[in-house]
Amino acid sequence: MDIDWGALRVKAAEASGRAYAPYSGYPVGAAALVDDGRVVSGCNVENASYGVGLCAECGLVSNLTMTGGGRLVAFTCVNGAGDVIMPCGRCRQLLFEHSAEGMLLETVSGIRTIDEVLPDAFGPRDLEMTSP
Ligand code: THU
Repeated sequence: MDIDWGALRVKAAEASGRAYAPYSGYPVGAAALVDDGRVVSGCNVENASYGVGLCAECGLVSNLTMTGGGRLVAFTCVNGAGDVIMPCGRCRQLLFEHSAEGMLLETVSGIRTIDEVLPDAFGPRDLEMTSP
């Protein structure tokens, strides 16, 4: 599948414009290409109870599920200045759950795979190993 990283970044920047980030003042937008060609996106949504704020990736994954599911093929995430930023650790786990094999991420050090940004990940397959 051909990935238009520029177009994906534009979608992420648009999403960052919808962010609700009054506490950090740090809007974030994320966008991803799905294996059926859809593009899903999300923005961060903070909360007066700081710790329960939602990262942009949370919105993106909800958007993925709400619009038909599927597997994430390519992902990017930007801040309010349009700079590419890294998904936080928790969000790497969120993305892993819904990733296509070899999912690509635009990162601060170039294009990387999900396995590179979350090595030896715990995932759905691990839960198949149930103890008696
Ligand atoms: N943030 C995200 O939305 N995604 C990330 O992967 C990194 C951090 C948000 C959370 C918080 O609203 C703001 O950035 C500052 O940490």
